[in-house]
Amino acid sequence: MALQLQPRPDSLYKGNKKIILLGEGDFSFALSLARHHNSGDNILATSFDGEAFLHAAYGEAEGDAKGNIAELRSLGVTVLHDFDATTLHSEEVDVIRCFVGLVKKVVIVWNFPHPGWPSKASRPMQTTREQPYRRVRESDQIMINRHRKLLRKFFISASPLAQSTDCTIHVTTVVSRQDADKWDVHGVGLACGYARCWTHRFVEGDYPGYARKVGVPNDPNGKRVGNNFGNNNAVTSVFKLEQEGPLIHRCFFEAIVTAMRKHMKSEGMQRHACFSLRGPAGFDAENRARAGSVDAVATVVAAMRAHTASAGVQEGACAALWNLTNGSADNRIRAGIAGAIKAVVRAMRGHTSSETMQWNACSALWNITSYNAANQTRAGDEGAIEAVVAAMCGHTGNAKLQQSACIALNNMTFRNAENVIRAENAGAAEAVIAALRGHANDEAVQKWAWKALLKLPLEIPSETWALSRL
Ligand SMILES: C[S@@+](CC[C@H](N)C(=O)[O-])C[C@H]1O[C@@H](n2cnc3c(N)ncnc32)[C@H](O)[C@@H]1O
Repeated sequence: MALQLQPRPDSLYKGNKKIILLGEGDFSFALSLARHHNSGDNILATSFDGEAFLHAAYGEAEGDAKGNIAELRSLGVTVLHDFDATTLHSEEVDVIRCFVGLVKKVVIVWNFPHPGWPSKASRPMQTTREQPYRRVRESDQIMINRHRKLLRKFFISASPLAQSTDCTIHVTTVVSRQDADKWDVHGVGLACGYARCWTHRFVEGDYPGYARKVGVPNDPNGKRVGNNFGNNNAVTSVFKLEQEGPLIHRCFFEAIVTAMRKHMKSEGMQRHACFSLRGPAGFDAENRARAGSVDAVATVVAAMRAHTASAGVQEGACAALWNLTNGSADNRIRAGIAGAIKAVVRAMRGHTSSETMQWNACSALWNITSYNAANQTRAGDEGAIEAVVAAMCGHTGNAKLQQSACIALNNMTFRNAENVIRAENAGAAEAVIAALRGHANDEAVQKWAWKALLKLPLEIPSETWALSRL
């Protein structure tokens, strides 16, 4: 492992980044950084444990947990307790989004993550004459597995944030100890779609006032809470989400879909999740297949049903449906069965004034009905053609919307005589002609408007007819 010269806090955690500290013990690390910057505006410090626990475990005097937290707050640091590092993707993400705001550079720091100790009941070791009871050790496989599981869940849950920002993740662990090496932080990060960018030696003295804490809340005998755990060598591994190839792993979709199901009532959570499914860089056919296999399409539709009044959820969900069904015949079938068309049409009727919502809805219909006869029929029955025409008439100035709407009309009427009649009755021809006129210099609108138009009146499929109506 190549170690670089250790950077000092001023270069490592520069003031122009937003720093998110996870699993703090007595908050002395956070305080050291805040004092160094003489400000806490850019720092969000969190602990897994509640405040009362921290006071009891790490003291209430100045320089102890209580004093540190008070000073942090006075410096403007946002302090949160009961914060689980493995749920960064869920409700708490809203807190994080508010904190991160428009700043793109984010550093997530977790020093010495530790999952706590298994309860006696879940320990595999039985007290027998041959094998008398002994305390679980760090080197036991059960502990190594717990460490790896904790890190895996953390990396996965950090990926939506890591994807939407220029984010580095700093995980500090003890080295020169066999058990810590077996956690294989690097391997776990890699499997979750991250690359390890570099490692540097972690020197406690670089952070004046910082005192490492054991702080294992569910320690069965309470003895290990609050102690410093010695002077072992430690390194910080810095991770960044891969931008190519394995950017989006199966576990990413599983994490998103699981979180969406678990927090179906949370509007903010569903909005963020839908937007994260709308197609970041690297979202290819393989990823669409992965997303489909973990039921992402049906889950997005469920979110639409659960939050009909939220234009944000509906917009994100339509964008996600557009992306998930793009070039994926399987996901189109899934969308049809899940009731996506009905949900999209309801969203269009409920949020007529939201231009981006209408645009994303037209785009979703364009892909869902592409080369899928059953979905074309559903679209006709559910009123999708009328909804698309209404969107065109309501937002004549939006070229992207007009283009998507024309593609949707084109796909819904393709070799479908019933839908052609519906389109004629809904005034599609007039709407398409208005798009042609209103966006005369937009090549994409012109192309798709003509295509749609030529499908409309079966008996007069000619440009001459259309021109006569211009
Ligand atoms: C070894 S202590 C390190 C404490 C502190 N970071 C330090 O450097 O002194 C491990 C910390 O991980 C925290 N922890 C355990 N599970 C966690 C989780 N799921 N989310 C956030 N923190 C967690 C514990 O509460 C404990 O404070």
